[in-house]
Amino acid sequence: MAGRLANRVVVAVTGASGIQYAQRLLNALATAAIETHVVFSDAAFAVWRAELDVPCNPEKPDLAAFAGVKGKFTLHRNTQIGASIASGSFRHRGMVICPCTMATLGRIASGAGDGLIERAVEVTLKERRKLLIVPRETPYSLIALRNLVTLTEAGATVIDANPGFYSRPKTVQDMIDFVVARVLDHLDIEHELGKRWGER
Ligand SMILES: Cc1cc2nc3c(=O)[nH]c(=O)nc-3n(C[C@H](O)[C@H](O)[C@H](O)COP(=O)(O)O)c2cc1C
Repeated sequence: MAGRLANRVVVAVTGASGIQYAQRLLNALATAAIETHVVFSDAAFAVWRAELDVPCNPEKPDLAAFAGVKGKFTLHRNTQIGASIASGSFRHRGMVICPCTMATLGRIASGAGDGLIERAVEVTLKERRKLLIVPRETPYSLIALRNLVTLTEAGATVIDANPGFYSRPKTVQDMIDFVVARVLDHLDIEHELGKRWGER
């Protein structure tokens, strides 16, 4: 991959707990100078309000404030089904759903749903591009587990919001970074989030 293609990522933020993972992901993508196309579900804004101190205006979300850094961000509305990311001709390095709700998981596993998020997922899968899913729920229902299997069989990679402890995290941020680092690794994006095994 060369040029602009290598520098484009799509991020869907849905209404699961752990919006801090999305915050850190956007921060890291901006730091790596990646062109980042972002879509929030309506429920993501409810979680933003519940879990963050950053002011949330769903009509005009401030991505620089959300990510803590100005990045090459393009915000798309979930209702904007004619957005660039809805087309297979829009090439990108990968799409990440972070965090991913069980509701979105069900919709994308069945190919249903009429929002931009579901359309962008469908396009990512049909074009055989990388789809990374960061689900957040516990315990998982059998339906959710089956949906995860379905999406894995369709080519997605599931990166559970499930930090390891071998890196001896000292803060919540360290634990967030552990998960976001795995996402960046799968996108082949260089980062310095946390130490790798053997680097201690
Ligand atoms: C504060 C808060 C936390 C939530 N946490 C989760 C969660 O961890 N996982 C999940 O699947 N749904 C969670 N939900 C429920 C979803 O937001 C809800 O099912 C919503 O309809 C999902 O819509 P979306 O998939 O379009 O974002 C949470 C809702 C709120 C308000």
